[in-house]
Formats: sequence, structure tokens, C-alpha cells
Amino acid sequence: MTRQLPHTCERALLEQFLKAEAMVLWFVRSAQTQDVPPGVLRFLRRHEEEERRHLQQFEQLLKIISRGKAALPRVPSQWWVLAVHLYGYEALGLQFARLLVVLRPDLSSILNDEEGHVAFFENEVRKILVHEGSSAEGARQAAQAWRRRLPRTVDHYLHDENLAPFRDDLRRSILDAIDERFAANGLDPGSGATLVSRTR
Ligand SMILES: [Fe+2]
Repeated sequence: MTRQLPHTCERALLEQFLKAEAMVLWFVRSAQTQDVPPGVLRFLRRHEEEERRHLQQFEQLLKIISRGKAALPRVPSQWWVLAVHLYGYEALGLQFARLLVVLRPDLSSILNDEEGHVAFFENEVRKILVHEGSSAEGARQAAQAWRRRLPRTVDHYLHDENLAPFRDDLRRSILDAIDERFAANGLDPGSGATLVSRTR
């Protein structure tokens, strides 16, 4: 999905990025307190550093200092659930990064970082799914539950009135892109209306 939005949408996108980066930064910090596989912790440290740099860039561009939070958010303690959540949020961020970079080619390093984050968690999710069993099943169920909540999250990020003329279109293409990505990687896109129990 690479779409040309008018420049009237630029500030709205930057503001949503600022909020999303602040949220992701705290999520990634909190994830480091969980029991994660070897190699993941090292990546999460680099990931945190990159998201912190992005946040600073958005703060400077918008001349806003985002407020820190007093406590780290609660994140899932099971790695297969946490991996799916990180994967999902990074995949969502990537869709917005693609929209932003069309308007702001000078921010293309952010897009490159986001592609790296998605690729890392995509690979981690694949590793979980390749060993069929309770963790693979748990990951699929986590993906379905996360996907059910996604439309509300997307609406939240598209609420700015400057995005109104494009909202329905953007919403559809963002949701489709995530569904395609999940399906291509063995996570059911699903409407999420029912949890299908699998027997394999
Ligand atoms: Fe990211």
C-alpha cells in the first residue's frame, strides 16, 4: 500500500506517529523484563534505541515533548503471545511509515528501521509456528484476538479530521495489508468472529 496523501495530512500523520512511537517504546521496554528467547533480548535493546530515536525525531518535528509514563505497561508473559503482539504492532507501524514517507522522503530511515523490526518479529513468529503444538496454537489464537481489536486501534490512529476524506479507504487497505501478511505467515487473518479450534 503506497498511497499519495495530500500535504494537509502530514501533521496528522506525524502526530499519530509520535503517540504510536511513545507507546511502542514503552511496550518494548516492558518486553525486556519478560522471559524471552536468547537473541531476542539483544534485538529488543537495539529496537528500543531505534524507537527512542524516532520518538525524538517526531518530537523535534512537532515541537512537542511527549509525556513519559510512570509505570511500564503490562505485556503478555508468554513469549508466543508477546511475539505476535510485537509483530502486529510493528506491521501496523510499517503501514503508517509507508504513508508518511511518500509525504516526507527525508524520513525514509524510519521506514527502513520499521522494515527491519517487522522482519525480525515475523521470523520469530515463524519459528514458533514451525513447531506445531501448544505454543503455535497459542500464537494463532493470540493473532486472532489481536486482529479482532485491530479495527478500533486503526480508527484511533485515523481519527484526525484531516484524514476524514481518506479514512475508509486507508482503514480498508491497512487491515487488508495486515491480513495478507498474517495469512502469508501462517497466522489466520480471520474475521475473528469465532475462534476455530484446530485438530492437527
Ligand atoms: Fe518499530
